Amino acid sequence: MSNVAVVGAQWGDEGKGKVVDWLSERADVVVRFQGGHNAGHTLVVDGVTYKLSLLPSGVVRGKPSFIGNGVVVDPWALIDEIERIGKLGVDINPNILALADNASLILPLHRDLDQLRENASEAGKIGTTGRGIGPAYEDKVARRAIRVCDLADLAALDDKIERLLTHHNALRRGLGVAEIDGVLLKAELLAVKDKVLPFAKPVWLELDRLRRENKQILFEGAQGAMLDVDHGTYPFVTSSNTVSGQAAAGSGMGPSAVGFVLGIAKAYTTRVGSGPFPTELFDKTAEILTDRGREFGTVTGRRRRCGWFDAVAVRQALKTGGVKGIAMTKLDILDGLPEVKVCVAYDLYGERIDRLPASMTEQAAVKPVYETIAGWSESTFGARSWAQLSANAIKYVRRIEELIETPVALLSTSPEREDTILVQDPFAS
Ligand code: IMP
Repeated sequence: MSNVAVVGAQWGDEGKGKVVDWLSERADVVVRFQGGHNAGHTLVVDGVTYKLSLLPSGVVRGKPSFIGNGVVVDPWALIDEIERIGKLGVDINPNILALADNASLILPLHRDLDQLRENASEAGKIGTTGRGIGPAYEDKVARRAIRVCDLADLAALDDKIERLLTHHNALRRGLGVAEIDGVLLKAELLAVKDKVLPFAKPVWLELDRLRRENKQILFEGAQGAMLDVDHGTYPFVTSSNTVSGQAAAGSGMGPSAVGFVLGIAKAYTTRVGSGPFPTELFDKTAEILTDRGREFGTVTGRRRRCGWFDAVAVRQALKTGGVKGIAMTKLDILDGLPEVKVCVAYDLYGERIDRLPASMTEQAAVKPVYETIAGWSESTFGARSWAQLSANAIKYVRRIEELIETPVALLSTSPEREDTILVQDPFAS
């Protein structure tokens, strides 16, 4: 039996929440390893909808869950989410949730900076979630972050705050906004520490113990490969590595612990925020995909941009992420379209290419080369076996498998967890 890492293979919002929830039944523990509360995972369990941003999806089913060191943690958002999910009847306590003591914190000044930058100019707009993710990662890498463990080290906190504010107040002066008072920031941290510290643990050590006990670990990725800070559509990306390699570093385990990598891809493509999107549609089909697919962001409510399946981008994502099989989601949204298109290559200044170039200018210049596939009129919604799928829907899935050079391990046909066709059990691989 292998551990499993679930990662997005497009621009996020691929439906990871449902797949992780489905897999979590067989996992012993669930671990988040990157991102923060910019993620939006929607789970539907017994008719109740849970919207998670920071908590690992395992918590909904009472699975021990871990927030690894690779995650940036907004303590206020964490507490809010624990309370919100608690109101839906899920008790999240330190027996269920552990938070890496070496994870970096997102502070209100990070959120301010994120939003100030986003609003400063149209040209520089990334279309972030405005939650301070980027600035928090910047401080982590610049070695001035306040980390979870620092909430318990009051003697060192003043110096850490001073160091942080030397940087941030200079920025804030430049941006023409009020400076942060270190005394007030400290008071805010002290007010929150007793709610956060009970969850703080050396997560790497706990995971090492669980691994020795042969427990099944499910690594839950957030966002998607095309938003990866190295491999994505830079600079229109998030600020963490979203590929599966990060599952090891972001949880404190070696790469051999990661196991089977399952990539999640929608049967079409969506993206929120700015940046290149070669197969984006602006016609009636885009409206159909948005409306039928309910393509509005879980975190920000923004309307998602929609387009055809991009086999070039997904193939690249699967290679950079070491993906062994994919879970395809939302096939039913294409039901009833007379024909569907798949991007099989790009045209870059008249030359046919089979990869997304690294350069921002070239990424914006590529034009999709489409293959047209006959649509299907029958519903695939809720199908639980291949026999319930029409021949053309199966042809579509098979053609995508060929193009992305990776088999479909799971097919998800509705938000309900039972509506899943299993081809290859990732844990048994
Ligand atoms: P940030 O992660 O808030 O800095 O946003 C950077 C980019 O990643 C923006 O284009 C966001 O829309 C996008 N992004 C961040 N989190 C998600 C997500 O969970 N789903 C889809 N896009 C996301």
